[in-house]
Amino acid sequence: MKLKKSVKKILILILFCIILIFSGVKLIKYIIYVNSDTYKLINRGYKENEVKLFLEKLDKKKIESLEKSKKNDYLYNLLNQKYFLMKNLDKYEKYLNENPDESYKNVVAIINTKANYNWYNKKQTKNSDTSKGNLILVNKFNNLDKNYEPSKLKKISIQYAYYDNFIKEEVKNAYEEMAKNAKEKNLKLIASSSYRDYNSQQILYNRYIVQKGTKEANNVSAKAGYSEHQTGLAIDILTDNITMSEFENTDEFKWLKENSYKYGFILRYPKNKTNITGYAYEPWHYRYVGKKVAQEIYKEKITFDEYYAFYIDNK
Ligand code: DAL
Ligand code: ZN
Repeated sequence: MKLKKSVKKILILILFCIILIFSGVKLIKYIIYVNSDTYKLINRGYKENEVKLFLEKLDKKKIESLEKSKKNDYLYNLLNQKYFLMKNLDKYEKYLNENPDESYKNVVAIINTKANYNWYNKKQTKNSDTSKGNLILVNKFNNLDKNYEPSKLKKISIQYAYYDNFIKEEVKNAYEEMAKNAKEKNLKLIASSSYRDYNSQQILYNRYIVQKGTKEANNVSAKAGYSEHQTGLAIDILTDNITMSEFENTDEFKWLKENSYKYGFILRYPKNKTNITGYAYEPWHYRYVGKKVAQEIYKEKITFDEYYAFYIDNK
C-alpha cells in the first residue's frame, strides 16, 4: 500500500516534469518565433508568400529596415520582375517614389538602362566595351573612340545594297542570306547605310542640328562616337522607291519585323521603347547581335539596352 502511494507520487512528479518541459519547449519556441524575421514581417502586414520571397532574396540589413518601417507596397512586385537587379533596388524605390504611376516593368527597364538620366550625361557615360564582339553596346551612355574601326569590313553585294555599303564580314553573310530569302518571297531589301566612321557620323549629326535643332537631332541621330553604325554591326534597310518614313508601311518591313531575328538581327529602336533607347522609332535600323541573342530579344520584346544591362553588365 505504502509502495503504491510512493509510485503514485513519482508518477505525478514525472507527469509534472513532462508538462513543465513541454510547456518550456513551447515557450522557448514561441520566444524564438516572436523574435524571428518571419513574425516581425507578418506583423508589419506582409503576406506569407511575400515574407518567403524577401527572406530568400534580401540581405539582413534590408530585412531589418523592413521590420522597422511601414509596409512597403511595391517591393514584392519589384522583386518579381524578370529583369530585377539587386544592385539597383534603392534606385528602383527612389524612382517609384518620385513616379508612382510608372509600371514596375518600366521602372526596372529605365533604371537598368540609366534612362532616368539626361542623354549623354557625362558622369554616366563610359567607353563601350569593345571586347564584347557582336554584343558591343553603343548608346547614349556608351561611346566609341574616334579612331575605333571594326575589323573585317566587307562590301555588301550590290544586289542587296546601294553602292559602297560596308559591314563586318559575319554581318554581311547574315544580311545577304536574309535578303536572298526575302527575295524568294518577292521582297526587295536594300541596305541604304551601314558602316559609318566617326567623321561621316559627325557630318550627318551636324546636318541634322542645322536642319532640325539640337533636341530633334538627338532624337533621330547619334552624336559622333555614339552611333551603332560605327561598330559595323548596324544596317539601315529600305526597299525600292521609298523614303525612310514610308518604310514602315511596306511588306518588306512587315517581313523583317517577324523574321530578322532568325538571321541574328534585331529592330534596334522600336516604337514603344523610345524612352529607353533615346531614339525615335526607326523601322529601318537593324542591329546584328547573333541568332541566339536576337531570338531572346525578339521573344522578350526588350531592347538591346535592357538585354545588355541584365545579361552582360550586371555586376
Ligand atoms: N540614327 C541612329 C540612331 C544613328 O544615328 O546611329
Ligand atoms: Zn541606322
